[in-house]
Amino acid sequence: MVPVLARLADRFSQIQPSATLVITAKARALQAQGVDVCSFGAGEPDFDTPAHIRDAAKRALDQGKTRYGPVAGEPALRRAIAHKLHQDNGLTYNPDQILVTNGGKQAIYNLTQVLLNPGDEMIIPAPYWVSYPEMARLAGAVPVIVPAGAAEGYKLTPDLLRAALTPRSRLVALNSPNNPTGAVYSREELAALAEVIVAAGLWVISDEIYEKLIYDGSEHVSIAALGPEIFERTLVCSGFAKAYAMTGWRVGFVAGPKPIIDAAITLEGHSTSNVCTFAQYGALAALEGPQDEVEQMRQVFGQRRDAMLEHLRHMPGLYACQPQGAFYVFIDIRETGLDSQVFCERLLDEFKVAAVPGAAFGDDHHIRLSYATDLATIERGMNRLATFVQGLA
Ligand SMILES: Cc1ncc(COP(=O)(O)O)c(C=O)c1O
Repeated sequence: MVPVLARLADRFSQIQPSATLVITAKARALQAQGVDVCSFGAGEPDFDTPAHIRDAAKRALDQGKTRYGPVAGEPALRRAIAHKLHQDNGLTYNPDQILVTNGGKQAIYNLTQVLLNPGDEMIIPAPYWVSYPEMARLAGAVPVIVPAGAAEGYKLTPDLLRAALTPRSRLVALNSPNNPTGAVYSREELAALAEVIVAAGLWVISDEIYEKLIYDGSEHVSIAALGPEIFERTLVCSGFAKAYAMTGWRVGFVAGPKPIIDAAITLEGHSTSNVCTFAQYGALAALEGPQDEVEQMRQVFGQRRDAMLEHLRHMPGLYACQPQGAFYVFIDIRETGLDSQVFCERLLDEFKVAAVPGAAFGDDHHIRLSYATDLATIERGMNRLATFVQGLA
């Protein structure tokens, strides 16, 4: 039989698979063959979801919460999210300004679909989370990558933002605490950006999914809280995956101006419909239940971060800033003379350590290591990394 050639839609021609998912799958495949891989690829807590959250979902199943629900989310969960945003972030939303999504990822995807026209520009500071540029492209828009390196503390500045503006600028993606760098924007830095954003009439996607994972006394601030004008222009996106170890549950949310949320609800109604009903009851328990496990996990992540940084300090040619949030270390590998792809391929092939090439985040001079893994793996993996780097010198 003659094979049928797949002719994919044009808009798909520029889209790459998620590098973090690819490297994680490769590491898992090796592990399945019995290879001892130290995996620092995944952006996923290694903890189990807290028991009271799992119990709530089991109860919801037993109570028959197994049918189609409202597309926008279970009303009780939308109310609880509105309450959380008020309490934690100083933001006042009606529950009808909140959409429950299939993870934080779908919140951002839906927004790019409803806000961007073909040819519009989405400003994305680099290093960025891998999916932002691809989501812009999937909307037919143009990702405008604005490098913000170590000199800027890996943060977008008002000057860099101003220099990137064109008549087609429509949306800017901010992510604090940041994946992959762990950078956290201060209130003052956000206020200065907000001024430029309001003056330029942009929309902001404020991706706050790591807000609970913050160290060294840093403070998480939502840019939406910095005045009524920026509030009106911000879409706050978040989810339960990282803070509550709920990656597989696929529950996230977006809050913002009602017309935009309504459009995102319509899109969700034609794509995925409601988020898994009983998973939403788990998310409700996450918000309403005790928060001490979130704090315990945060402290453990902090210890692992310190352990990883301590090893890195002794590796010649590798440089890492101290991350203030999330669970990643972004390491400058420029002095090794390797690009990030080759570095990570060799590290995995020769030393069985999985790391993600910085190229996936828009910076080929870095690699990303996740410290959402146990201390023993960090010890073993860092020793292997040290041997690899010594061999390069
Ligand atoms: C910055 C950032 N935003 C959003 C997401 C999406 O998270 P999820 O869809 O698992 O809730 C991730 C996950 O890695 C992330 O790192």
